[in-house]
Amino acid sequence: MAYKNRIVPIFFSVATLFFLLLIIDSSSSQQTLTVESRSNPATSEDCNNRWIYIRNLPYRFNLDLLTNCSEYPLFDDFCPYLANHGLGQKTHGRSHSWYRTDPLLLELIFHTRILEYPCLTNDPDAANAVFLPYYAAIDSLRYLYGPDVNSSFQHGLDLFEFLHSDEPGIWERHMGHDHFLILARPAWDFSQPLDNDPPIWGTSFLELPEFYNLTAMVPEGRPWPLQEHAVPYPTSFHPQNLAYFEAWIQRVKRSRRTSLMLFAGGGGIGSTPNIRRSIRNECEHSTINNNVTANFSIIRTNGVYSKLCHMVDCSNGVCEHDPIRYMKPMLQATFCLQPPGDTPTRRSTFDAITAGCIPVFFEELTAKTQYRWHLPADKYSELSVFIPKEEVVFKGLKILDVLMGIPRSEVRKMRQSVIELIPKVMYRRHGSSLDLRSKKDAFDIAIDKTLQTIKDKLGNMLDH
Ligand SMILES: *[C@@H]1O[C@H](CO)[C@@H](O)[C@H](O)[C@H]1NC(C)=O
Ligand SMILES: *[C@@H]1O[C@H](CO)[C@@H](O)[C@H](O)[C@H]1NC(C)=O
Ligand SMILES: *[C@@H]1O[C@H](CO)[C@@H](O)[C@H](O)[C@H]1NC(C)=O
Ligand SMILES: *[C@@H]1O[C@H](CO)[C@@H](O)[C@H](O)[C@H]1NC(C)=O
Ligand SMILES: *[C@@H]1O[C@H](CO)[C@@H](O)[C@H](O)[C@H]1NC(C)=O
Repeated sequence: MAYKNRIVPIFFSVATLFFLLLIIDSSSSQQTLTVESRSNPATSEDCNNRWIYIRNLPYRFNLDLLTNCSEYPLFDDFCPYLANHGLGQKTHGRSHSWYRTDPLLLELIFHTRILEYPCLTNDPDAANAVFLPYYAAIDSLRYLYGPDVNSSFQHGLDLFEFLHSDEPGIWERHMGHDHFLILARPAWDFSQPLDNDPPIWGTSFLELPEFYNLTAMVPEGRPWPLQEHAVPYPTSFHPQNLAYFEAWIQRVKRSRRTSLMLFAGGGGIGSTPNIRRSIRNECEHSTINNNVTANFSIIRTNGVYSKLCHMVDCSNGVCEHDPIRYMKPMLQATFCLQPPGDTPTRRSTFDAITAGCIPVFFEELTAKTQYRWHLPADKYSELSVFIPKEEVVFKGLKILDVLMGIPRSEVRKMRQSVIELIPKVMYRRHGSSLDLRSKKDAFDIAIDKTLQTIKDKLGNMLDH
């Protein structure tokens, strides 16, 4: 048995890679395109201005990086999360839509999805945009957590060199303005000024003039975005057909919300004042029988909440690949707190939306100034609560008081708006059924907006 246990995972990951090699190898062949266009009935009309060419890159820019998944001593082995083309293993054997997804694999998830995009072309001259299937965040690990920390300004130069030596006409046609890629870590990790010596944190990928003209998607952009645009972090929910998707929506709608607010996360333990600490304090002192912060009249008249605040302790990364730990509590909560941590954004924002739990933001950088493509900035008051963190940390404002002051009818409307966002922030499973493909998911929206961004850029260049 011990022997069998050792063989299975190895076989699994090799099989996964082998399959990836197959699909990626054939991505530029006419055969795949014919198969794809048959399974995605797209007329040439649909594809007008939407043609994408996938740049052929040597495996050192993508697949070889996956085979090195256990090579970073300071970074967890991510081999287990490569399964299912980067969605990870299913949470349990009978799960239809839930996976142990690691956000680092968004590059692989995107790559897999773009291979089934209906308007791929083999002719770079006919393309409206050129996709670079480069796993930049995975490649950055050797600078961030590995031996190349002192040459982090070199991250990307090898790619640039390749783009200029192999069929240079593809880049030169629009000087890179029509090229795009996705980086699966916050832009901060790629914004090290070139003259920082030794580097403080991050590589300089987004600081290299060589790549200024690219359109880059990231899960978190800088406050003044340059070439990057933020797209949702992947959650663990990846349905493969409309029935599974609808079943989840029904569950979200019917779920009894027995906690007023929930915080799933870690931090806030030290003595320095910060928003996580304030949340922890407020939560620990907020039992229903203690009205120091609770508004009894609301609790009594509504008679619904059995808990005012529910803390799901996610310290030490225990929640990262275990969505059951936080999705069940989120389904049972009305509001989900999204305090900034090391960086302003959180994957948890998208987990909360997926659970129909109304997000509570403490700074604009957490979502409003980030995900404009997917969550329109003018809709925030309809689907989230904003409480400036300074008010809570330094002026004693109680989060519970704010949330309890929101009338129930308002809460119901907000939850409905949040539920409508679920398809827009999910990444459905690759190869999903046609009925589900008719809903635009996070990937589809990202591609539409990228094509529009590139079209606008090229248009501006013509004007000048
Ligand atoms: C993978 O790891 C090996 C051994 O550390 C290294 O020689 C190789 O360059 C790595 N490959 C990539 C693509 O990073
Ligand atoms: C990087 O540079 C710093 C300072 O010069 C040095 O202390 C450190 O050992 C270097 N790290 C590596 C991995 O070479
Ligand atoms: C980026 O575009 C500008 C023109 O908009 C061009 O002058 C420059 O050479 C381009 N950079 C690269 C690396 O191609
Ligand atoms: C709880 O609330 C009641 C009514 O508002 C008040 O009279 C009482 O002093 C409060 N108790 C505490 C411990 O604050
Ligand atoms: C408690 O709820 C009542 C009824 O909605 C409201 O009038 C009152 O201002 C609330 N008290 C606090 C402290 O928020």
